[in-house]
Amino acid sequence: MNDTFLKACRGEQTDYTPIWIMRQAGRYLPEYQKIRGNVTFLELCKTPELCLEVTLQPIDILNVDAAILFSDILIPLEAMGTTLEFHEGHGPVFPTPIRNQADLDKLIVPNPEEHTGFVMETITLLRKELQVPLIGFAGAPFTCATYLIEGGSSKVFWETKKMMYTNPKLFHNMMRKITKTTALYLKAQANAGAQALQIFDSWVGILSPSDFQTYALPYVQEMIRDLQDTGLPIIYFANNGATLLELSETSGANILGLDWRINIGDAIKRLGNTAVQGNLDPFSLLLPKDELKKRIGRILDDAKDAKGHIFNLGHGIHQFTPPDQAKAAVDFVHELSQKQSH
Ligand code: CP3
Repeated sequence: MNDTFLKACRGEQTDYTPIWIMRQAGRYLPEYQKIRGNVTFLELCKTPELCLEVTLQPIDILNVDAAILFSDILIPLEAMGTTLEFHEGHGPVFPTPIRNQADLDKLIVPNPEEHTGFVMETITLLRKELQVPLIGFAGAPFTCATYLIEGGSSKVFWETKKMMYTNPKLFHNMMRKITKTTALYLKAQANAGAQALQIFDSWVGILSPSDFQTYALPYVQEMIRDLQDTGLPIIYFANNGATLLELSETSGANILGLDWRINIGDAIKRLGNTAVQGNLDPFSLLLPKDELKKRIGRILDDAKDAKGHIFNLGHGIHQFTPPDQAKAAVDFVHELSQKQSH
């Protein structure tokens, strides 16, 4: 069993810096495309045997030090009673967005085992196969709320901010319901065998620090407090969150995920005792290998004073990334961070 990732999560000494890659299972791998060619994305998410297979693919192909459950942050939102569709080339769509109290009242706080049993079954299957730790995940309440309110992905988040500023009561009611749902969902993943939990806050970077404190952070804090009895390391990834770093540390997470817009050494100086994860620009994987290696070396060097460092990209791997470049990055991290034995 390779427990380097879990040791780094706990801030313990490791023989080398562990690495995994956000969205490591996905379309950039021909092996994924092959399976995905026969089923829709949602069918794939709901078939544990296939989820098992695609979760394992990057472990074997890239030699990463952790696995992340194959699923999507929108799965528990669908279980709340909404309709979720994925339109080829356009991403996710909720055809009936949540815009008023009556819409919200129709949503339930689902029992995760009952409504998303396929996720727990995938975790059970994975734990029998894996030689590396398994990360479970969910979206952070704010990021989940943007999808439900906008009805899909967004660039300006007009409807979300409109609700925050013109109907804060409704917005907070909605955040409470999502927080309950995601906390229960992550607890169920822990019970099923997940060994670490990551909370993805992909869109929280659109908030000012003060709005982050009012509209998003309290719910992340509540969720993490609720998850303390699982005893699992918790990673909070606030994408585009360099200006929210000190506040993010009050979330209670054991590890903060960093995007590439901040120097990792500067982030570590600003943080107290929290471990970090990150933070190579995903597009750096397009660089010639010698330059890629230099960039990785610089990040490892800048992160040498971290309480714990898990190497990752600063956001998900892009679908057109050549797999051999991702593999090279994993090898470089392992090679360059190898501790000399005396
Ligand atoms: O390997 C892994 O990291 C595990 C699987 C995983 C997926 N989505 C699979 C997926 C994880 C951890 C996610 C998280 C997720 N999903 C996030 C947070 C991370 C981030 O990138 O910020 C978000 C915002 C989503 C919502 C989502 N899912 C969008 C916006 C899209 C469409 C955009 C796109 O990239 O196509 C998805 C689809 C999706 N989720 C795919 C995969 C592999 C592609 C689906 C396909 O095969 O067509």
